[in-house]
Formats: sequence, structure tokens, C-alpha cells
Amino acid sequence: MKGLILAAGRGTRLRPLTHTRPKPVIRVAGRPIIHYAVENLLEAGVEEIGVVVSPETEGDLRLALEGYPVGYVLQEEPQGLAHAVAVARDFLGGSPFVLYLGDNLFQKGIRPYLEAFQEGVSAVIALVRVADPRQFGVAVLEGDRIVRLLEKPKEPPSDLAVAGVYVFSEEVWEALGDLKPSARGEYEITDAIQGLLDRGKKVVGVEVQGWWKDTGRPEDLLDANRLLLEELSPRVEGEVVESTLTGRVVVEKGARVAGSTVIGPAFIGEGAEVEGAYVGPFTSLGPGARVVGSEVEYSILEDQAALEHVALRLQESILGVGVKVRSRNGLPRAHRLVLGDLSQVELA
Ligand code: G1P
Repeated sequence: MKGLILAAGRGTRLRPLTHTRPKPVIRVAGRPIIHYAVENLLEAGVEEIGVVVSPETEGDLRLALEGYPVGYVLQEEPQGLAHAVAVARDFLGGSPFVLYLGDNLFQKGIRPYLEAFQEGVSAVIALVRVADPRQFGVAVLEGDRIVRLLEKPKEPPSDLAVAGVYVFSEEVWEALGDLKPSARGEYEITDAIQGLLDRGKKVVGVEVQGWWKDTGRPEDLLDANRLLLEELSPRVEGEVVESTLTGRVVVEKGARVAGSTVIGPAFIGEGAEVEGAYVGPFTSLGPGARVVGSEVEYSILEDQAALEHVALRLQESILGVGVKVRSRNGLPRAHRLVLGDLSQVELA
């Protein structure tokens, strides 16, 4: 069994964060999203892993996955998930494989889907009940068997959304060969699975255990950060001076917390600096991030981001790599902003 992680997407709903970096390298609970995918595959015994990248995402993915036992497959043009699988054909060869969307998080790993993949089954799809399935693939089940699959239907026939893990037998290649681009101009993996169903093949749905998160939008990132921090084991390897740490807090090596209050769960990454500050629950600081003379809660600060001497607490915020938010001294008393395209600022 091989594993294929898709990480070539443009992540448009996460702009501006994804203007400069691909979604799977954004950190949640201190680690790039894609680390969780690779680890779930390894934990399930899938050791030959390929990562599909685009010319734009390749550099960042290689950097984020340094030291991990993965190979890379280049998808030159973003033509959909099924196209990404097709370009990986040489890597996948004739063996069954797990397809894992690189922006999806599964609390309890992926073993149940591999276990459901027995002889005679052409594919296994992870499914999850959601309140609004219109932004997902949607399945219709009879028993455990999927009988119909639709991509982002306006009128969903069920509340069972397709989560981002699929297990395929080599029969999928025939269905992939027949695909036509969808209305949005992409080769959809959902259509390939429907192709299997049209051929009378057995495709089973397995409901996700524990939580599942598709990190498509900023609020999903914050929620994923919260869910992962809930499972944090406390650990202090950095320096803590005249500070109070309450609850589950990680202070990584090289980080410094001084004259501050930190209430967990919170993650303070390598080399980060927290001084005269309050860091509240569900906050992650990336490597080299700084919070000085300020308060922050339920937020993500990426690598080298800084929050300095800001009077009002920052909440539900995501600061990308190298972003600086600081108070301004002197007159005029005014906000001064330098924001990239599609940035979002809400001032109190
Ligand atoms: C993709 C799939 C969709 C699935 C979703 C899960 O959509 O096309 O069927 O439900 O991932 O994350 P995307 O998020 O790429 O629009």
C-alpha cells in the first residue's frame, strides 16, 4: 500500500496567507498541517509516500518536510484532484493506494479506512456528517455501500460529506481514464469514484471517528489549532522567568517567557519570545514569534510574527510569517497599515 498526499492546491480561500505559501505548510498547534498527514500515514503502516506539489508549492513543501521519508511528484498545472492522481501514476504503479488531501486533519488517524479495504472492495471513502454539505463531495449510502457521489451539489442528497482520505484499488485507473473536466474545469476525484460505481464496483463509506477538519478557511485553521492544542502534552524546554504557566503549555527550546502569564493550552515555538505579555488559551506561536507588552488569545502567530505594545487584546487572529502588529508612538494618533492584497483587519 502506497500513500499519496496532495499538496499542489492554491488555497484561494485562505488568502492572503496562501499568497506566498501553500496551505499545508501553515502551522496549527506549532506544526505544519502536512506533518499530521505524513504521520497518520506512517502510523497506519504506509511507508512509501509521495507528495504531489506544484511548481509554486514545491520549495515550501520540501522545506517543511525535511527529514521525512517522502518523495515528490510534480503537477505542472492545477487541473483537479483526479489529475493530480493521474500524474502520480508512475510512482503508484500497480499497487492500491491511500489518497490523502494535504489540508485535512483526522484526530484518530486513518487505520479504519485501510482496514475496511478488503479484497473485493474497489475503494473506501472516509465520510463525515456535516451541517452544510454543499461545499464538499456528498455520498448516498445503502448500508455501508456508496451508491451515488456528487461534488459540491447545490441540493445535497444527504449530510454525508466526503472527508479527504480515500483508499483505491488499481481499478481506479480505468475510471480515471474516462474523465472529462467538470463545470469548474477540473478533473474531479468524485467523478472518478462515480465512474467506479457506474461500472458496478463496490465502494464503501466509513464514517470518521473523532474530529475531522478541512482547513479551507481562516476560521477552520483557528478551530483546528484549538482541537490539536486540546491534546497537547505540557513540556517546558525553553527559559521561563518570573512568569506563571497554567494548564497545558509547551515552551520549546530556545523560547523565552519573561514577566508573563500564559494560560494553556498554548504552544510557544522554538526561539519565540513572550515578554510582559498575556498568552491565553488556544494560542500557538511559531518559531521566532514575539509577543511583547501585549495580550493574545485564540490565535495563531506564524514564524517571526510579532505583536508589540498593542493596547487591546488580539483574539481570533492569524498573523502570517513575519507580520508585525505594533502600537505607534507620537502624533498623529492614527492607525498606520501596510497590508497585502486581501488582508483583513478588524479594528475595535
Ligand atoms: C475536495 C473534494 C471534496 C471533499 C473535500 C474535503 O474539495 O473535491 O469532494 O469533500 O476536498 O476536504 P476541495 O476542498 O478541494 O474544494
